[in-house]
Amino acid sequence: MLRIEPGNATLGARVTGVDLGRSLSDADFAAVLRALGQYGVLCFPGQPIEAAALRTFSARFGGLQAMSSGVKDRGEPGMPEVSILSNVVENGRPIGIPDAGQDWHTDMTYNRVMGFVNVLVAKKVPVRNGKVLGATEFANTQAAYEDLPAGVKARLADATATHDWNNFHDIMRRKGSQRPALTEAQRRERPPVSHPVFLTHPISGGKVIYVNPGFTVAINGLAPDESRTMLDFLFAHVLQPRYRYAHHWSVGDVLVWDHLGTWHQAVGDYTAEEHRLMKRCQVLADKVFEAAFLEAASRERADASA
Ligand SMILES: [Fe+2]
Repeated sequence: MLRIEPGNATLGARVTGVDLGRSLSDADFAAVLRALGQYGVLCFPGQPIEAAALRTFSARFGGLQAMSSGVKDRGEPGMPEVSILSNVVENGRPIGIPDAGQDWHTDMTYNRVMGFVNVLVAKKVPVRNGKVLGATEFANTQAAYEDLPAGVKARLADATATHDWNNFHDIMRRKGSQRPALTEAQRRERPPVSHPVFLTHPISGGKVIYVNPGFTVAINGLAPDESRTMLDFLFAHVLQPRYRYAHHWSVGDVLVWDHLGTWHQAVGDYTAEEHRLMKRCQVLADKVFEAAFLEAASRERADASA
C-alpha cells in the first residue's frame, strides 16, 4: 500500500509501498501528484528500474523532452528521452553528461511549454570514507514567495521575465566546464521565451517565484539596472537556508521533483575517479495545466479516500 512520509525539512517526502517497475493505479498516481505539489521532492527508495520503465513512469506526468542535438550521444541508446548524467568514461568515451546541473537553476524554463518534473534513477553514487557525495540540493520557491515583502509581490504581480537556455551554458563555462559554446543552430533550436515572474502552482494552488539564476536573464519592462537588482534580490531571497533541502542519494533511489515550485543544483564534490551515474527523464508541463488532468487526479483522490 502506498505510503507517503514527509521529512522534517522545507521539502522532501519518502514514498514506499509501490513498484515503479509496474504501472501505478490511478488512485496511487493521484496521491503521488498531490504529494508532489505539497512536498516538492519525492524519493522512492529501492527502485532500481531500467531506462524503459523510467520512461514509462515519467510519461504519466506529461510529455517527455528529448535530448538536445548537442548531447544526443550522451543518452540511453535508442531512447532520446532518457539522458545519462555521469562522469563515467568507457573506452575513452564519456557515456553521459559529466557536469549537468552544477549550479542553481530550474530545468526547461527556457521552453515555451515549461518543465513540470524530473525523474531520475541513481545507478552509481560516489562514496568517500563512508560519506555520500554528489547530492542534489533544492530550494523551495513556494515558501519563499509567501515570505516576500508585500511591496515586491505587488510590484511584480503581473510581470514577466525572459529565460534563455544559453545563459546556463555561459555560467558553466565561466566555472570551467569543458562543454563547448552553443552554436547558432543550437541557439535557434531553443530561442528565449517569457514566463510570469510569479506563477500559480497548478496542484497546490499557491504562488511560486518562477525566475531562477540559471536561465532568467531579465524582468521584462524594467530598466536593465532595476531588472538586475530585482533578480539578484529574488535569487538571494530564495537561497536562504530555511528554504533549502539536500537529497543524499542511494543506489536505486528514484527521485521525482517538481520544477514549478523548486530550484535545484547538483553538487560536484567528487573526483573523476569517484563514479556517479543517473538516468533521467525531463517531463514537460503540458498535461499538468490541463483542467481534465487535475480533475481526474482530484476525483480519484476522493474515490481512494471514500
Ligand atoms: Fe537540472
